[in-house]
Amino acid sequence: MPTRRKIKIDVHFTPSQLDELQLKDKNVVVIDVLRSSTTIAMALQNGAREIIPVADIESAVKISGSLFGEVVLRGGERNGKMIEGFNLGNSPGEYTGQAVRGKSIIFMTTNGTAAMVKGRYAKNLIVAGFVNLSTVVEFLCGLQSDIMIVCAGKEHRFCIEDSVCAGKIITKLTRELGNDVVIGDGSRAAVALDHAEGRSILKMLKSSDHGKYLTEIGFADDLKVCAQLDSIPVLPVLSGSVIRLSKESPKPSRQAKN
Ligand code: MLT
Repeated sequence: MPTRRKIKIDVHFTPSQLDELQLKDKNVVVIDVLRSSTTIAMALQNGAREIIPVADIESAVKISGSLFGEVVLRGGERNGKMIEGFNLGNSPGEYTGQAVRGKSIIFMTTNGTAAMVKGRYAKNLIVAGFVNLSTVVEFLCGLQSDIMIVCAGKEHRFCIEDSVCAGKIITKLTRELGNDVVIGDGSRAAVALDHAEGRSILKMLKSSDHGKYLTEIGFADDLKVCAQLDSIPVLPVLSGSVIRLSKESPKPSRQAKN
C-alpha cells in the first residue's frame, strides 16, 4: 500500500525574510492578531463587500482614485492611529454594519497588510486571528496539503501574540490530522509558546509589547475584541488583490446589531 505523504506545517515568525516568490503557490495563513486580522474578520462579518490590502499610502490613494467614491472607504493605521484623509482606523469596533455594509475597503496597516500583499501569489491565502481560529483550522484540514503560517510580527521583529495564535492553530491541526502532520522547529516553538502563554489570551495580549502600546494610546478595548476565541467565525481569503469571505464561511448575519 502506498504511504500517504505527510503534511508539513511551517511557521515564519516575521515576514521580513520572505518574498513573494517563496509564498507563490503555497497555502499561506497570515496572522496579525493586533489588530488587522481581527478588523478584517469583523468588517467582512458585518457585510463589507471586500477588503483591498495595500502596503503603502501611495497605493491606497492610487487605488481609491480608480474606484467609485461612495462605495469605497479607506481604513488602516500608522503608529496605531487613523491615517489623515482615511475614513476608518484599525479598531475592529469601528467596522460596524452601518459603516461598512456593501463597501469596498482599501486597507493599509503597518505589518498586517504588508504581509498579506507579499502573499498575493499564494495558492490560498487565509487571514487568521484568535477570533476565527477554528474556522481557519477546519478549512486547512480540508486542504490536505502543506501549510505556511506567516506571523505579521512588529516592525520586522517577533511578536508574542501572533506566535501564540500560530501555536494554537498548529495544536488544533495536529489534533485533527494526527500522524499525517510533520512539524519543524518553528512550529514546535510556537506550540510551546502557546502552552506557556496562551491559557489566558487577554492577559497575554495585555502584557505584549503592542498590547501595551495600544493601551497607552487609548485602544485597550480593542484587546478584548481581539482576544475572543472563535467569536467571528469567518474565513477571509485573498484572491488576486482582494480579500473576501470564502463561500465556506458561515453566512454573516444581515441583522448585525452594531
Ligand atoms: C499592524 O498591521 O501593524 C497592526 O494591525 C497595527 C495596529 O494595531 O493597528
